[in-house]
Amino acid sequence: CRIRRYNFNVMVKNTSRLCSTKPIVTVNGKFPGPTVYAREDDTVLIRVVNHVKYNVSIHWHGVRQLRTGWADGPAYITQCPIQPGQSYLYNFTITGQRGTLFWHAHILWLRSTVHGAIVILPKLGVPYPFPKPDHEAVVILAEWWKSDTEAVINQAIKSGLAPNVSDAHTINGHPGPLSNCPSQGGYKLSVDPGKSYMLRVINAALNEELFFKIAGHKMTVVEVDATYVKPFKTDTIVIAPGQTTNVIVAANQGSGKYMVVASPFMDAPIAVDNATATATLHYSGTLASSVTTLTNTPPKNATPVANNFVDSLRSLNSKKYPAKVPKNVDHSLFFTVGLGINPCPSCKQGNGSRVVASINNVTFVMPTTALLQAHFFGIKGVYTTDFPQNPPFKFNYTGTPPANLSTMSGTKVYRLPYNATVQLVLQDTGIISPENHPIHLHGFNFFAVGKGLGNFNSKIDPKNFNLVDPVERNTIGVPAGGWVAIRFRADNPGVWFMHCHLEVHTTWGLKMAFLVDNGKGPNESLLPPPKDLPKC
Ligand code: C2O
Repeated sequence: CRIRRYNFNVMVKNTSRLCSTKPIVTVNGKFPGPTVYAREDDTVLIRVVNHVKYNVSIHWHGVRQLRTGWADGPAYITQCPIQPGQSYLYNFTITGQRGTLFWHAHILWLRSTVHGAIVILPKLGVPYPFPKPDHEAVVILAEWWKSDTEAVINQAIKSGLAPNVSDAHTINGHPGPLSNCPSQGGYKLSVDPGKSYMLRVINAALNEELFFKIAGHKMTVVEVDATYVKPFKTDTIVIAPGQTTNVIVAANQGSGKYMVVASPFMDAPIAVDNATATATLHYSGTLASSVTTLTNTPPKNATPVANNFVDSLRSLNSKKYPAKVPKNVDHSLFFTVGLGINPCPSCKQGNGSRVVASINNVTFVMPTTALLQAHFFGIKGVYTTDFPQNPPFKFNYTGTPPANLSTMSGTKVYRLPYNATVQLVLQDTGIISPENHPIHLHGFNFFAVGKGLGNFNSKIDPKNFNLVDPVERNTIGVPAGGWVAIRFRADNPGVWFMHCHLEVHTTWGLKMAFLVDNGKGPNESLLPPPKDLPKC
């Protein structure tokens, strides 16, 4: 194994999209940012230097960070942010993972433009468990706002109302040839007839789940969230913010130009960005003037299309890559996720109230000292360990919503002993509106053992759990008006954030943290912090 070194200069760059120019925060002047390449077992050293006026931190989304929580990145959870003019060396080893992940800023709304791919190749000499594609490409889906994204969210916080939606979606940084600024072109995937291509698709958008399609071509899904799945063919994938999906496309159409589309999926009756991002798959030898073959996009509320895709995902569960699903459960947790409404006397537009979000009715309050530091150094008064195991009210999805929609606030964590096995049922409250929440857990992969609509029934539903080959991932959609059950083993000591990866919901408080104690064994403790860990 090798050491991979990267320099990330966080800097402002004037960038033109949709025929107008604005300064954006980038890494090394690029949008999307540079791809980090490594192999399983490599050590990755990334020096992040902050040249902008904002505090910055970077998260390596999906990298397990075994015992190296100091390099995980969420601001005020595992580290204090890197202040303007300062730097921090992220130092971690990739253990037991290979596939596609991504990195992104984990503070404010900077991840709208501060993100890029992480490509982890298998160990040297270890083949993929599927036929080797001839070529590979990274495909990052995201959004573009004409205005400054920090201004967008600050305005929303002030008013207590929902923020504006983006002005476009993007594929590898570009809204594409069907946007209202076609002259800027778009991403072009050049292919040779007869060859196969692995696309590493990443949803880096702040607030939108997306459908992804290629006209005239089927995709074979082989991996999600850097875990191998049983291959299956589909013409549409659905991908939530925080998720990654590897597909193989056979360039079997001989010639021509084919539209690639990313369009919104939102099964809630709420404001949504309707813009479809487009790109082009272009066979070599095809004339630039030839007509592009188009494809339709699923309607934004095409829940059956999304379900069909999600329900097809199964762990590969081969001899070499077994699905290590915990069979017994030490901690059985039931968390409600959803929105609420709290009083806000200063919110004029919101009529004296504001939208909030919560888990088990707790709206998480960000601390001003990083939780991991408080935990490691024994700093008192930063968090409490009373995060509830169950919601404080008797939850009934189909019943009338509680008369009082207010949530309570706190910096509460749920404490787990080292190596405990956890079953966590995440239930959408749908109190204001049923909505799909892509929940991301830092520091672990988990198995999605069950899912359903309406209320979770603790007597009946577990009987139908898949404990054999459930998909393993780091971000899972809680179905609108339904629930999902996950299982994981708490084998990573530290403090691990869990939150909705729709950034607006995270801002509103749909987040919490698990504190996992050290084990007693020689390699079961959190390592000490690096010397240059940023100070608050
Ligand atoms: Cu990709 Cu805590 O996030």
